[in-house]
Amino acid sequence: MRLLKTALVAGALAVLSVTTIASAYAQDTKIGFIVKQPEEPWFQDEWKFADQAAKEKGFTLVKIGAEDGEKLMSAIDNLGAQGAQGFVVCTPDVKLGPGIVAKAAANNLKLMTVDDRLVGADGKPLEDVPHMGISATKIGEAVGQAIIDEIKARGWKMDEVGAIRVSYDQLPTAVDRVEGAISVLKAAGFKAGNIFDAPQAKTDTEAALNAATVVLNAHADIKKWVAFGLNDEAVLGAVRASESVGIPADGMIGVGIGGAESAINEFKKPAATGFVGTVIISPKRHGYETALNMYDWIANNKEPAKLTLTAGALAKRDDYQKVRKDLGIE
Ligand code: GLA
Repeated sequence: MRLLKTALVAGALAVLSVTTIASAYAQDTKIGFIVKQPEEPWFQDEWKFADQAAKEKGFTLVKIGAEDGEKLMSAIDNLGAQGAQGFVVCTPDVKLGPGIVAKAAANNLKLMTVDDRLVGADGKPLEDVPHMGISATKIGEAVGQAIIDEIKARGWKMDEVGAIRVSYDQLPTAVDRVEGAISVLKAAGFKAGNIFDAPQAKTDTEAALNAATVVLNAHADIKKWVAFGLNDEAVLGAVRASESVGIPADGMIGVGIGGAESAINEFKKPAATGFVGTVIISPKRHGYETALNMYDWIANNKEPAKLTLTAGALAKRDDYQKVRKDLGIE
C-alpha cells in the first residue's frame, strides 16, 4: 500500500513538473510578427489574430512594422538580441529573400512568411521557407467574375467599357491576382485593347489614385469603367480617381481583395459608390494560424507546411457582414 502511495505521489509530481516545464517554456517563447505596412487594416487584423494565438498559448508576440529592407534587417537582428526563437514576416520586398533567410539563420531564428512569398535571385519562390498566402490566381478570377456579372446586371455593352489594371508588378502575388481577373474578363469578351495598366509606386490608396488618374485622363472618351488590383486599397484608389474626374458611381465597377476596414468603411457609406464588392480573405488564418504554426515549430518541433494557400469569398454592400461571420472573422 505504502509502495502504491509513493508511486502515486511520484507520478503526480512528475505530471506537475512536466506541466510546469511546459508553461515555463511557453512563457520563454518569443515570436516576432513583422509586416510591411502596419497602417493597413489587413495587417492590423493579422496582428490582432496573432495576438489571440499568443494569449492562448502563453507566448510573447513582438509586433514590428518594417516598411523597407533596412528596417526589416535591423528588426531581425533586434529579435535575435531579444532572445526570440522565430518570426513570421510579410516583407516590404520579396527580392530580399536570400538576405532575409541568411539574417534569420545568423540570429538562430526560425522563419515563416505570410502574404508575400520570398523569391531568389532567379525570381523563383524560395520553396524551403514555409509560407501562407492567398490563392492569388483563383481569387483574381473571382474578382473578374464579379466584375463581369455586374457589367451584365447593368446592361453595359462590353465594347464601351474600359478596365483599370492597378498594378504592382514587382510582387508576384499582385501579378497573379490581376492576371486572374483579366483572364475572366477576356474569356467573357472584354476587349484586350481596353485594359489599361496603372502602375502604383506603393501599395496604398494614394498611389493607386495617382496611377488611375493618369489612365482616366488619357482615355477621357471612355465613360464606363471597371477596376481591379492587388487589394482593396488599390481599387479604392481607382474608385476615388473616377469620382475626381466626374464619373458617377453607376459608371464604375471596382472589386477589391481583402475585406478589412478599408472595404467595410466603404460599404457603410449611406450611398453606394463605385466600389461594388471585395473578395474577403482571412486575416484570422494568416495571423492566428501562422503564429500558431511558428509556436508549434519552436515548442513542439513541428515544422509548418511548406505552402498553404487560403481561399476567399465575394462580398458586397448587402452581405459583407454575413460573409465575414461565415469566415470566422468577426
Ligand atoms: C499582400 C497585400 C495585402 C494583402 C495580402 C494578403 O501582402 O499587400 O494588402 O492583400 O497580400 O495575402
